[in-house]
Amino acid sequence: MFEVARTDGIANVEFLNHVLDGLTAQHKALNPKYFYDEQGSYIFDQICDLKEYYPYQAELSLLPKIAAELNVILQSEQSVVEFGAGAVKKIQPLLSLIKSIKNFTAIDISGEHLRSACATLQAEFPNIDIRAVEADFCKPVELKSEVKENRLGFFPGSTIGNFTPMEARRFLSNAKQSLGANSKFLIGVDTKKSPIQLHHAYNDAQGVTAQFNKNVLERINRELDCDIDVAKFEHYAFFNVAKGCIEMHLVSLVEQSIDIDGVEIKFDVGESIHTESSYKYSPKQFEALASDAGWKVEKTWLADGDMFSAFLLSC
Ligand code: AVJ
Repeated sequence: MFEVARTDGIANVEFLNHVLDGLTAQHKALNPKYFYDEQGSYIFDQICDLKEYYPYQAELSLLPKIAAELNVILQSEQSVVEFGAGAVKKIQPLLSLIKSIKNFTAIDISGEHLRSACATLQAEFPNIDIRAVEADFCKPVELKSEVKENRLGFFPGSTIGNFTPMEARRFLSNAKQSLGANSKFLIGVDTKKSPIQLHHAYNDAQGVTAQFNKNVLERINRELDCDIDVAKFEHYAFFNVAKGCIEMHLVSLVEQSIDIDGVEIKFDVGESIHTESSYKYSPKQFEALASDAGWKVEKTWLADGDMFSAFLLSC
C-alpha cells in the first residue's frame, strides 16, 4: 500500500491570512494555488476535457515518446518526484515505459484528491513504491532521505507558468538543490502562440473556466464562513502580450463590500481581483531561464503545431 505523509496541512488560518492580505492590497490578488480545494481540483479536471483547453492533450500526446526516450537514457534505478501531481494522469506513461523507476512520490496541495488518485495508481503499478505527499511545493519540500541520487523531477502541465519568470527561476534552482546530485528534471511548458487561440483556452464556451475562477470565492464562503455574492463578480481572462501571460481576474460588477472575519473589504464597480497569471514561453526563452537557474537543457520536445513543449534538464 502507498504511504501517506502529511507535511503541510493547509490550515484555515493560513488561508484566512492570505485572503486578508490579498484583498486589502492596493491591487487585490489571490494566489492561484488556492483554486485547488476538492471542488476546484474537480473543476480543473473538467477543464482538461475541454476542446478549447489544448495544453492537456498536447502534452499527453508527447509523453509516450518522451518516456520511450527516457527509458534509454535513464539506466540506473530512479526515484521520480512529481510537483503538483493532481489527478496523477500524466505519470502513467512514464511509470509503464521507464523500466528503471523504483519509487514515485507525488506532491500536491489537494490531499484528498491526491490520495485517492495514488491508491488507484498503486493498484496499477504494484512493483513501484508510490507515496502521496500533501504539501505546497512553493515551499521547500523535504524528500525521503534514503533516495538521494538519480532523482527525476517531473513538473508537467505548465504549472511553472503560474510563477513569474523570476519566481520560476528561483523554483528551478531550489528544485535542483532538493532533487540532488545527478538529478534530471522533466518539465512541461506552454508555448507562445496566437493570442486568440490562447484567449479561447481560458474563455471556453461552456464557462467551465469561469466556474473554476469563481470557485475561489466559493471556497472563501465555505472555509472562512463568508457570504460573498459570487454572481456579482465576472470571470475575465485575457492574454497580456507585453508580459507574455494569460491574466485571470474576477471583476466586481457593482460597488459592494464583503466581510471577511470582521474586516470590511470594499470594491468599486469594475475593480478586479487578480487570481492567476499563466506565463507562456518560446523554447528559446525557456532554455535561457533554465540555464539561468543552473540547469543544462538536454532535450527539447514540441507537440504538433508547436502547441506545447517539454524539456529534459540535467545538472
Ligand atoms: C494548471 C496552471 C497550468 O495556467 O493553464 C487552466 C490552470 N487556469 N485554466 C493554466 C488554468 C485556467 C493551468 N495550470
